[in-house]
Amino acid sequence: MKAKLGPANALYPSLTTIVGSVVDGRPNFLAVAHVGIMNHGQPQYLSFGLNKRHWTPRGIREHRQFSVNIPSQDLVEQTDYVGLVSGRNTDKSEVFELFRGELEHAPMIAGCPVCMELRLDRVLDFATHEVFVGEVVNTWAEESVLDSGKIDLARVRPLLFDFSSVHYWGLGEKLAPCWSVGKGLKRG
Ligand SMILES: Cc1cc2nc3c(=O)[nH]c(=O)nc-3n(C[C@H](O)[C@H](O)[C@H](O)COP(=O)(O)O)c2cc1C
Repeated sequence: MKAKLGPANALYPSLTTIVGSVVDGRPNFLAVAHVGIMNHGQPQYLSFGLNKRHWTPRGIREHRQFSVNIPSQDLVEQTDYVGLVSGRNTDKSEVFELFRGELEHAPMIAGCPVCMELRLDRVLDFATHEVFVGEVVNTWAEESVLDSGKIDLARVRPLLFDFSSVHYWGLGEKLAPCWSVGKGLKRG
């Protein structure tokens, strides 16, 4: 028996990221948990919805460049902080140690094990949010989280965001190989 919950869309865990841009000449960051992967293949894109009131989108629009950083559990306090206060009235430029890659206006966070620099591709308009779609120009990963050149999530220790309980979660156990465990049900 299922309870009807109405139109609720944020009920599954999603990766917590930190998006960075340069607003009025100053790096600014906010926590963003609703990130989507678009167009697997080349080019690669990410998308996320930002409330129109936020400060960070100003920098994304101005420079058409930004970063998406994946914090580990060690950065839970800082991640939450940049998701609590706005660059509109608080300087968040010194919360993290920063580095730059190819794009001058995509400040990345040295303490995050995985960081991406992106170029703005398009913006989709919704009532309260705008969806920003960016092309990934480069991904930077700490060597310590790589296993044979691939990102090992157990080493990244990402923060999962749960809108239902409003808590951060860690990863659980590795369960089964994708595109493989289902093969037993294949017919023909
Ligand atoms: C874990 C977490 C996830 C969040 N995810 C989003 C999101 O996906 N989209 C959004 O617009 N705001 C999101 N927020 C809220 C913004 O991060 C927050 O309002 C921030 O202070 C805005 O900063 P800014 O005005 O400096 O850009 C999230 C906050 C937290 C704590």
